[in-house]
Amino acid sequence: AEIKQAEAGRTHLTFREAEVEPYELPPLLKRADGTVVETADEWQARRAELLTLFEEHVYGRLPGPPEEMSFELLSEDMSAVDGKATRRKYRIDCQSGGRTFDFEFHLVIPNGVDPKKVDSAVPVFLLISHRSFKEVGRKKPIDDVLWPVDLLIERGYGTAIFVENQLSPDNRTAFDSGLVELHPQSDPRPADGWGGLAAWGWGASRVLDCFEEIDEVDASKVAVLGHSRGGKSALWAGARDDRFGLVISNNSGCGGAALSRRRFGETIAVILREDRFPYWFAPKFQDYKDREAGLPIDQHMLLALVAPRPLYVASATEDLWADPKGEYQALAHASKVYELHGHDGLDPERPLRVSDPIQTDRLGHHLRPGKHDLSRKDWTHYIDFADHLWPKP
Ligand code: GCU
Repeated sequence: AEIKQAEAGRTHLTFREAEVEPYELPPLLKRADGTVVETADEWQARRAELLTLFEEHVYGRLPGPPEEMSFELLSEDMSAVDGKATRRKYRIDCQSGGRTFDFEFHLVIPNGVDPKKVDSAVPVFLLISHRSFKEVGRKKPIDDVLWPVDLLIERGYGTAIFVENQLSPDNRTAFDSGLVELHPQSDPRPADGWGGLAAWGWGASRVLDCFEEIDEVDASKVAVLGHSRGGKSALWAGARDDRFGLVISNNSGCGGAALSRRRFGETIAVILREDRFPYWFAPKFQDYKDREAGLPIDQHMLLALVAPRPLYVASATEDLWADPKGEYQALAHASKVYELHGHDGLDPERPLRVSDPIQTDRLGHHLRPGKHDLSRKDWTHYIDFADHLWPKP
């Protein structure tokens, strides 16, 4: 226990900047063999190395696409959003090694999209939802904050949603249903066994597989996003799957965009506490409770895995649990890889400014006043950023 304490320094939680102790981030651009990455081409090998480290130490290993997959339209309502949109419900059927698994997603697209016309397919925002379908899409207050379909349709975007629980239930007995039916794991899980975040992110990639077959969707312009725990999984999905054209983290915090070594707000030891969320991560992550310095990675490296694709990280002033400053700094450190690709970078020392969004050619950031939430205001910033990336013809 003494050694643990010595390594960790402060062991209580803090929400005060003055209590953040000095730390050193593992070098983003130095490969395991000691060579330094100097070009965009060289980054690819480093990227592969980092992906493996995140699998082994943080999120766990999970196979890619199933051996067989198909999807089916279950229902269609052409009068959604006051007749301005069509809402469809699909089921995705997966099969691997004789095992099967299915889950659903909903897609809403503006009416009048003519897939036969060149350039008319729409970009889509795909939300990884911690709310059930019952709650989302039927309750006005929830839709206004979590999934403002009307706003997205009005601004010319399609939007889709699926529910985390169908992939891996968000509770401590998570492994008794969902994706485990397709990819069984031993009990207890192996050190690098996948957790909930990886499972949810996997779901996002399967929805993207379907988008590639849906004519009204422009699969090269799909933004994957999530709030909080959903934001953590959106980042991991976007890191693994380079088909996502934009990756958005809304208040994702610990295990998401925030630097673990800052130990500000929620820490690894807290998130992994037995009564909290150990099942979101690989068991190996337990080794770094109050031992962040031993982690071979930090979360700026997760963000860098998205490069050079567009990436947006957002925080809220009152959401200290998620460490707004640590989220911004991770993004700014990751921007080194964007610079390597000829894009604009960000300065980690730049002070955070409220309600003053940053938009570079590939990176977005804002600090919204208020609480831990995915609000209409957040969505408006994301849509503005997408407009700037993907100008309408
Ligand atoms: C908890 C958890 C966070 C998580 C959040 C959420 O607060 O500690 O890590 O981001 O739930 O998903 O809302």
